[in-house]
Amino acid sequence: MLVTSALPYANGSIHLGHLVEYIQTDIWVRFHKMQGHTVHYVCADDTHGTPIMLRAEKEGITPEELIERVHAEHSADFSEFLVEFDNYHSTNAPENKELSQTIYRALRANNKIDTKTIEQFFDPVKNMFLPDRFIKGECPKCHAKDQYGDNCEVCGATYNPIELINPFSAVSGAVPVRKETEHYFFKLSECSDFLRDWTRSGTLQNEAANKMNEWLGELGENKLSDWDISRDAPYFGFEIPDAPGKYFYVWLDAPIGYMASFKNLCTKKGLDFDEYWKQDSTTELYHFIGKDILYFHALFWPATLEYSGHRKPTSVFAHGFLTVNGEKMSKSRGTFITARSYLDHIKNPEYLRYYYAAKLNGSMEDIDLNLEDFVARVNSDLVGKYINIASRTAGFIAKRFNNKLHSPTANNVITEIREAASVIADSYANRDYARALREIMKQTDAANGFVAEAAPWIIAKDAARDSELHAVCSDALEMFRLLTLYLKPVLPKLATEIEAFFDVAAFTWDAVNIPLTEHHSIQAYNHLITRIDVKQIEAMTEVNKENLQPQQAELSKVQTKPATTAVAADEAAYISIDDFTKVDLRIAKIVNAEHVEGAEKLLKLTLDIGEEKPRQVFAGIKSAYDPELLKGRLTVMVANLAPRKMKFGMSEGMVLAASDEKGGPYILSPDNGATLGMKVK
Ligand code: 2FM
Ligand code: ZN
Repeated sequence: MLVTSALPYANGSIHLGHLVEYIQTDIWVRFHKMQGHTVHYVCADDTHGTPIMLRAEKEGITPEELIERVHAEHSADFSEFLVEFDNYHSTNAPENKELSQTIYRALRANNKIDTKTIEQFFDPVKNMFLPDRFIKGECPKCHAKDQYGDNCEVCGATYNPIELINPFSAVSGAVPVRKETEHYFFKLSECSDFLRDWTRSGTLQNEAANKMNEWLGELGENKLSDWDISRDAPYFGFEIPDAPGKYFYVWLDAPIGYMASFKNLCTKKGLDFDEYWKQDSTTELYHFIGKDILYFHALFWPATLEYSGHRKPTSVFAHGFLTVNGEKMSKSRGTFITARSYLDHIKNPEYLRYYYAAKLNGSMEDIDLNLEDFVARVNSDLVGKYINIASRTAGFIAKRFNNKLHSPTANNVITEIREAASVIADSYANRDYARALREIMKQTDAANGFVAEAAPWIIAKDAARDSELHAVCSDALEMFRLLTLYLKPVLPKLATEIEAFFDVAAFTWDAVNIPLTEHHSIQAYNHLITRIDVKQIEAMTEVNKENLQPQQAELSKVQTKPATTAVAADEAAYISIDDFTKVDLRIAKIVNAEHVEGAEKLLKLTLDIGEEKPRQVFAGIKSAYDPELLKGRLTVMVANLAPRKMKFGMSEGMVLAASDEKGGPYILSPDNGATLGMKVK
């Protein structure tokens, strides 16, 4: 089996959102390795494209220097989260260059490459064509300023950059011009029939197959457009053969990076690359991805492979996004948590692995990391229940029986735990880790029930019951051994420590049926895990808030402020009085304020601005205000903001508040004399 996770971009830190995928894949790989399968798990940094080129330029280093530094950071983060790749490579590698060019030539020979002249935005100051993300301007729908060329973050509209009002280049601030250029296209429009067949071959989850059917349209319909695979210099990437100044678009060579990483592994390990990638390969190929990049992996990628003479993926497994405390990860709330800050504060990566596993069920649904629940669950399941089995029994084996075990008795609980192996294995294989862990915790409860009932600490007081004590504690440790084996894909480090405690070889799944024999000697038991303290969570979110400024710079792909040197940039930095008067600011009376169940940051405000019915507005000011004290106050609201459906109901406006990294939010108060409904202008 060849297994991959999506390649992270080489211009940002790994965060807890990324880790959902790497942990999910790693658990699956470890499980299959425990089954005795030959599995190669490969990944790489995704290093090409405009954002990386510009980021390096901004830092005053070469792209090669940037990607080398990030490669080291990413590798350390993954390894400390126990994500064990067999190879972690780079898309900017000789193997990838060669494979990309070979694949391109094969597509061309198959008459699947076309050229077309297209018109694109061009930055006349920077002398480069601009990707949509690097053009900003006013949203054509809601007129919000400073929006990206492809979508508006205020009203959510998606559009073409050409529709933006007063566009400017996010790189130089200059007004972009339209310019013609020749681009290379992969003729995806000719691949509908192949892709329809491929979709039906059971390679995708149902939700993903439905999405594909939407993209492909009805039989006979052709909804696919050709795919633009070239970018003009300057670009950080690979040059297209026989096309000077034209480079492969980053998404062309990124998935080929899976092959390249594997090729690099083949060289190191003497494996046969072609056996895995030839058209009729009998090996299996699995890609784990986020649902946002399904289009690339389920359309472009299989078509690229098919028409360049390669095998197709066996399955593509898409997962959902991560929310934290029920909301999108947010830098201002401190929930945009980097892998590194987790390691610094929580320390134990297996807690996160366990929590994610308990939530992952193999579907494309989003999963939520509720930080309070995280603490409660880890403390209760792992420390309170699972480890407790050993900590209540191992000491007796050491003190009273010279570290030697009794062989397991005909204990019903052991039998039941052993028989759970197949349900647990099926659940892992189907990526329903939530089900696997539910079953494991059910068995953990049974084991604890056995220990509580047998009460070895009472038996121990009676020297005449020595052999009973020996049997009870040995049985409990056999239960502990089985549970550890089941948990090993999720908790590999802890399992290794427990293997050392039992003094046995690394657990494979077969070891379920091989109990420890009479007189097997174990090692001294040391307490292996400790509770998480809520304070660690608070410190972690605090650091992610404090880091807001540098981290924003770290993670953002675009420099959003227009440069002030260019005249065009100065224009872009101001708004006209007409722009300002578009915002309908009103004095509002807070007639009611209350907490919202389940919302961490929000208060629900009822605001009177003299209309027939007061407005309902959700405001992120809970941290700073007692709702009781807000009632009756006057403040300022934006009255003509489009109503927005939030998780807790409609929000029909916005109150204004001041804040910075040192404090706030502080809502505004008008001077004496202002009354509700007055316009602020
Ligand atoms: O979306 C992303 O983060 C991309 N860097 C994923 C690439 S996956 C693969 F195709 F290379
Ligand atoms: Zn908008």
